[in-house]
Amino acid sequence: MSNERPRAETIAAHAFRAVEPTTGAVVPPIYMASTFARDESYEKRLPDDYQRGGSPTLYQAEALLAALEEGAGCLLYPSGVAAIFSLVDTVPLGGHVVAPVNMYYGVRVWLKSLADKGRIALSLIDMTDSAALRAAMQPGKTDLVWIETPSNPTWDVIDIAETAAIAHEAGAILGVDATATAAVTTRPLTLGADYVFHSVTKYLNGHSDVLAGTLITRETNERWALLQALRTKTGAPLAPFECWLLMRGVRTLFVRYREASANAKAIARHFSSHPKVERVLYPGLATHPGHEIARRQMTDGYGGMLSFLLRTDFDGARRFCTLLKVITPATSLGGPESLAEHRKLIEGPDSPVPDNLVRFSIGLENVNDLISDISQALDRL
Ligand SMILES: Cc1ncc(COP(=O)(O)O)c(C=O)c1O
Repeated sequence: MSNERPRAETIAAHAFRAVEPTTGAVVPPIYMASTFARDESYEKRLPDDYQRGGSPTLYQAEALLAALEEGAGCLLYPSGVAAIFSLVDTVPLGGHVVAPVNMYYGVRVWLKSLADKGRIALSLIDMTDSAALRAAMQPGKTDLVWIETPSNPTWDVIDIAETAAIAHEAGAILGVDATATAAVTTRPLTLGADYVFHSVTKYLNGHSDVLAGTLITRETNERWALLQALRTKTGAPLAPFECWLLMRGVRTLFVRYREASANAKAIARHFSSHPKVERVLYPGLATHPGHEIARRQMTDGYGGMLSFLLRTDFDGARRFCTLLKVITPATSLGGPESLAEHRKLIEGPDSPVPDNLVRFSIGLENVNDLISDISQALDRL
């Protein structure tokens, strides 16, 4: 038996399967208990004796994600945004946050509202431009640099190592929304990020049946202790059943992500020169502005997310989504089923997203069915 640390695929496939001693079950049981009895000496048997602090199924799921991201600790929350806003809550009053213009819009809108109230100072910049990032940094005041890579919905690729160096030089931390990389193709903590975030709702759970989010830390420090305390105080741990479903999903993470990547790449290539498609935005295409960084930073596929700029207007892009028959017109991403979404309609008139952009989350169907579906919808547009 080798003493080598198991590789990521092995960690995921086993999902820290602890063979249950009394039954030999190869899948861990779910501990649904909300409270846990103390021992004979009235000591806690686990770090927490009440589910608001944590539960055995939560600890297992957190250990699994920490191992996949090579982190020192992991916290799971009942949604992605709950996780992000816990981290933002650790920014001192009036502290400066630098975030991208192109990012998951729900977070951008909320950060802006916090800035409007004076809770934080906010700079929204083009994160693909490292000179703009350097110019935005306020040493001693900038507390958090937040990036998303590849970022919604244009799939900009941000150089994590370079961004971490710039953030650290100014005394700030770097948080990376790596939802689209699924802990498969990029490990932000190994590139210098301080926190990696995932909307677990997406690839990590991967079956469109759990809402969850996670923060994984490079080191356990004062801020991490604050995050742990905040989660208990605000009553926001992920519930045991969702943790169990997540571990079930992670077992197939690598095959799902690789298959989705292969399908998305084939679709991106196929429609790149279609007369009704102005541009395909996919980091795996050599024509994508972030491709060179992606080649270095996404070492196991470019993911299943891509967008089309259609040769049409707002109404045409919206109608296109209704013409699809195999691909479902729905929000979210990272599930087995392919989804299409008219982002401008979802994000509203203030959004920087082009009117003619349709975002696809490419799933696990037969790629020829997906290509035929998109082709027939384009023909009828
Ligand atoms: C990139 C990204 N970040 C954050 C979020 C928010 O996560 P959740 O929906 O799990 O709260 C989403 C979800 O839509 C997302 O796509």
